[in-house]
Amino acid sequence: MVASPPPGGRGAAIAEEKDAFEEYNETGMFMDRLGLKQRLAIMESSDPMVAERYRILFTRLEQLSLKHSYKTIAVTSAIKGEGKTVTSLNLSWLMATEFGKKVLVIENDLRNPSISSSYLNMGRLSGLIDVIKGDADLRSAINRLEDTSLYFLPARASARNSSVLIDSQGMRSVLDNVKAHFDYVIVDSPPILPLVDMNILSRMVDGLVLVVKAGSTPKDMVKKAVGSLPGKNLMGVVLNGADEIHMKKYYY
Ligand SMILES: Nc1ncnc2c1ncn2[C@@H]1O[C@H](COP(=O)(O)OP(=O)(O)OP(=O)(O)O)[C@@H](O)[C@H]1O
Ligand SMILES: [Mg+2]
Repeated sequence: MVASPPPGGRGAAIAEEKDAFEEYNETGMFMDRLGLKQRLAIMESSDPMVAERYRILFTRLEQLSLKHSYKTIAVTSAIKGEGKTVTSLNLSWLMATEFGKKVLVIENDLRNPSISSSYLNMGRLSGLIDVIKGDADLRSAINRLEDTSLYFLPARASARNSSVLIDSQGMRSVLDNVKAHFDYVIVDSPPILPLVDMNILSRMVDGLVLVVKAGSTPKDMVKKAVGSLPGKNLMGVVLNGADEIHMKKYYY
């Protein structure tokens, strides 16, 4: 990425578009306004298979994305607590740091915004909820994680009326707007059951990744949940939390 301001002419328009979510300090360096409160498994683990599993997942997602021009990918699960946030964060980190992709993570699980509460030091920065309500500008709510090409649009706070916020022109315009500026947009999403949120969101993104907690969620429940989504483009299933021998990822 380039730290100098864009030159004039047509190049300027292109550079401006690419840099729409960058801000510079007085020395011309990027302003990184986010830090992580806790390290991710992919940064910590001495087991090379941890990163390898995410590498395989990304490679498959990229094949499908290139083929179908997908850019916005929702990470969801049948019910809560199956590992959506962990998968979204580790995958996005790998995409940015190892594959050099410019990645935006949108925290769209508005009832349980654990990225805002548990993973990011975001201070007083605005979030998705403020943008949807028209109280903050999209550019100010998207911030870069220090020293990476990984960006976040955190929810900032939880919202009880999550389905109203998701099913809004504000949310649609966020998704439309960010597509031009990032290689990938990973949407940490609500569970499919028992809310309507994912029903709405599944129609707004290009594809879905389904996280299934190994040995926990009944197969029939997973099938029923996925079957209930309109217009779904299931790109992959991640079996999360299985031990090393039984850990599998399988794809459509
Ligand atoms: N593979 C894993 N190994 C160990 N712990 C895990 C793994 N995946 C998830 N966890 C832990 O399980 C809990 C739930 O994971 P996570 O928050 O990612 O799920 P979620 O689907 O986003 O949940 P929610 O629906 O509540 O948002 C967290 O405490 C997380 O650290
Ligand atoms: Mg979560």
